[in-house]
Amino acid sequence: MTSNNQVQSTIRRVLDDKRGMPGALLPILHDIQDELGHVPPEAVADIAEALNLSRAEVHGVISYYHHFRTEAPKGAVVQVCRAEACQSCGSEALWEHASKQAKGQNVTLESVYCLGLCATAPSMSINDKPYARVSHARFDHLLAQLKEAA
Ligand code: FES
Repeated sequence: MTSNNQVQSTIRRVLDDKRGMPGALLPILHDIQDELGHVPPEAVADIAEALNLSRAEVHGVISYYHHFRTEAPKGAVVQVCRAEACQSCGSEALWEHASKQAKGQNVTLESVYCLGLCATAPSMSINDKPYARVSHARFDHLLAQLKEAA
């Protein structure tokens, strides 16, 4: 668990590093989420002030992109691609399967919309590590490996 001081120092450090770059908002949001696992709501005011934006503008960007989370993920982050190429190879059925299998597990299951593995769909990732040609059985195997590693 990340302490409030760690959260604040991470936000400060990222803002100090990136505030001067053109189009800094998205890189800042990515860096904060990469380090903390999410963009905490308390970061919005600091980001807005640092970039001379309104809080609504910062909040609007965070809420527009599926990628950004405002709450810390629980356990491993499991993402199933639900974009067109994966849909054509069964990702909706994989999503349904994953939703059932992930219930009660220490994972955060999320939809994503392309992992860059379209030619080897359906695709998924676990803590940003990509997996291609994911069958239901392979999903179950990967989930079991996560449980063993915990
Ligand atoms: S559509 Fe799923 S990886 Fe591109």
